[in-house]
Amino acid sequence: MSAERRPLVAGNWKMNGLRDSAAEIRAIADGYDAALAARVDLLICPPATLLATAVVESDHSALRIGAQDCHMKASGAHTGDLSAEMLADAGATAVIVGHSERRADHHESDEMVWEKAEAAWRAGLMAVVCVGETEAQRQAGHCHAVVARQVRGSVPDAATPENLVVAYEPVWAIGTGLVPTAEDVAEVHGVIRAVLKERFGAAAQGMRILYGGSVKPDNVGALLGAADVDGALVGGASLKSSDFLAIARAYL
Ligand code: 13P
Repeated sequence: MSAERRPLVAGNWKMNGLRDSAAEIRAIADGYDAALAARVDLLICPPATLLATAVVESDHSALRIGAQDCHMKASGAHTGDLSAEMLADAGATAVIVGHSERRADHHESDEMVWEKAEAAWRAGLMAVVCVGETEAQRQAGHCHAVVARQVRGSVPDAATPENLVVAYEPVWAIGTGLVPTAEDVAEVHGVIRAVLKERFGAAAQGMRILYGGSVKPDNVGALLGAADVDGALVGGASLKSSDFLAIARAYL
């Protein structure tokens, strides 16, 4: 965290949540009190089926609602896809792009993620661009090179501190309970910051870099305290309002 960057704690619900989960969204919005709001931005990205509901449930608070993916085009014959414009129309203010699950399950390349981030900006959404190495890549000593290549290839030229968040999510840490050490996280975030500086100069100092992968209330303190870590992207623990709020309260 730094003086020029406001922390962000974001929840990615992935393919979880039915209509009765609206109560969890409301509980998060209710728990996002003035003390928390003074310190940290909160974002929840429910499945698209719950976007409009989540917007209604949180409209009395500063909790932001985002989506988990978007198509690069604004409209057209793309059955099953959703455009960034549609997500914005449903009330989303942000969208995750390039999550490793989409890179793996839907063969999304850096080029596609770049186009999706541009689509997000076209629709006025903040893009949360995800990067991260696999276990094999880390073991081969390629972690820094892989992450630098993903940032160079996935973050478009028009990035600003307002429209871009980068999330570093080591694939091997997602949903496994395994977490890198705070030193390892700081090192990779330093690599990401350096690539952003090389591309965007002084503006890079204002761009937020989140850590994601098995973030829980009991390990968040060490992770968020690491250099160049400006918040967290939380999967499983964001589904329970008490856990998600406990993670956000690490900033109090
Ligand atoms: P977990 O917190 O469940 O490991 O998921 C992390 C993640 O992929 C968030 O996008």
